[in-house]
Amino acid sequence: MSLKDAATAVRERAYAPYSRFKVGAALRSTAGNLHLGCNVENVAYPEGTCAEAGAIAAMIAAGDTRIAEIAVIADSPEPVPPCGGCRQKIAEFADPDVRVTLYTTDGKEFVTTVRDMLPGVFTAAHMDRA
Ligand code: THU
Repeated sequence: MSLKDAATAVRERAYAPYSRFKVGAALRSTAGNLHLGCNVENVAYPEGTCAEAGAIAAMIAAGDTRIAEIAVIADSPEPVPPCGGCRQKIAEFADPDVRVTLYTTDGKEFVTTVRDMLPGVFTAAHMDRA
């Protein structure tokens, strides 16, 4: 199954009664496995989690550690970019040149990379003197 199809399917399972904005994320790990996530909101709004965070949690829980490629889809006028927190989360598990493809449910797509999404990323190297 393509990452786009997988993200499209898992998006349907999103729990988004507050924003009504369903998001699906699918990633392929460097081990070749598919891991999926959708946004899961909460009545205490800040406690919700993004689709990308869900896919990363599924990857780690399954025993994989690195992202080879990731796709995100939402029903938005333009492809929705991951939030700032998710960019940092993706950067933790993906090399800078990893492809990130953002889709709309009506067929638009935008291809970017981890590097381009988060210039100036904070890395472990910044803590070398700690
Ligand atoms: N959301 C995601 O899951 N991923 C994104 O890339 C953008 C935003 C979710 C969080 C929240 O449940 C809803 O979309 C509205 O912000």
